[in-house]
Amino acid sequence: MTTIVVAMGENNEIGSDNQLLWHLPKDLKHFKDLTSGHPIIMGRKTYESIGKALPNRTSIVVSRKKDWFEEGILIVGSIKEAVKFAKKIDEDIFIIGGGNIYEQTIDIADRLEVTLVKASLKADTFFPSIDAKIWVKTDEICHEKDEKNQYDFCFQTYEKAEIK
Ligand SMILES: NC(=O)c1ccc[n+]([C@@H]2O[C@H](COP(=O)([O-])OP(=O)(O)OC[C@H]3O[C@@H](n4cnc5c(N)ncnc54)[C@H](OP(=O)(O)O)[C@@H]3O)[C@@H](O)[C@H]2O)c1
Repeated sequence: MTTIVVAMGENNEIGSDNQLLWHLPKDLKHFKDLTSGHPIIMGRKTYESIGKALPNRTSIVVSRKKDWFEEGILIVGSIKEAVKFAKKIDEDIFIIGGGNIYEQTIDIADRLEVTLVKASLKADTFFPSIDAKIWVKTDEICHEKDEKNQYDFCFQTYEKAEIK
C-alpha cells in the first residue's frame, strides 16, 4: 500500500517559505502514528524543512542534485527509485510531500491520509485537487481547536474508487 500523508487548509494550501502553516501537535502525533516503522519518501525541500531524519523510519529523499550526502537518509535521483527502495524495506510506504512530490505521486497512491485544517491561509505550496471521480472518503474524525492546537481539523482517509 502506498499512502500519501498531507495536512492542508481549505484551499489545499500546505506550506509557505518552506514551512508548515500551523502548529498542530495532535496532527504531528497522527503523522508519527501513521508513519513510524515504515519508509517515508519526501522531496529535498521537505527534508530541508524538517531538517533531520525522523526516528524509527527510513527517510528516502528525492533530489536531482548529485554528490550530496547526509547521515541517516537515503538520497535517490527519481521517484521511481524512491518507491523501489521503499518497497524493499516494507510493503506499506508513505509519501510525505511536499507539493512538487505530491503532484507527481497522487496517481500512484492507493490511499490519502489528509488532515483538513479548517483555515484559509496565505501559502506558496498546494496539494493537488482530490478528484471525486477517483477518490472516495472512507473515514473522517474531527477535532476542535484547543489551547495547544490552533485550528479545528479533521483526519480524513480517501481510498481509490473501484473502477466499474
Ligand atoms: N502540510 C503538509 O502536509 C506538508 C508536507 C510536506 C511538505 N510541506 C510543505 O511543502 C513545502 C515544500 O514543498 P515543495 O513542493 O516546495 O518541495 P518538495 O516537493 O518537498 O521538494 C521538491 C524537490 O524534490 C526534488 N524532486 C522533485 N521531483 C523530483 C523528481 N522527479 N526526481 C528527482 N528529484 C525530484 C527536487 O530536489 P532538488 O532541487 O534537490 O533536485 C525538488 O526541488 C514546504 O513549505 C513544506 O513545509 C507541507
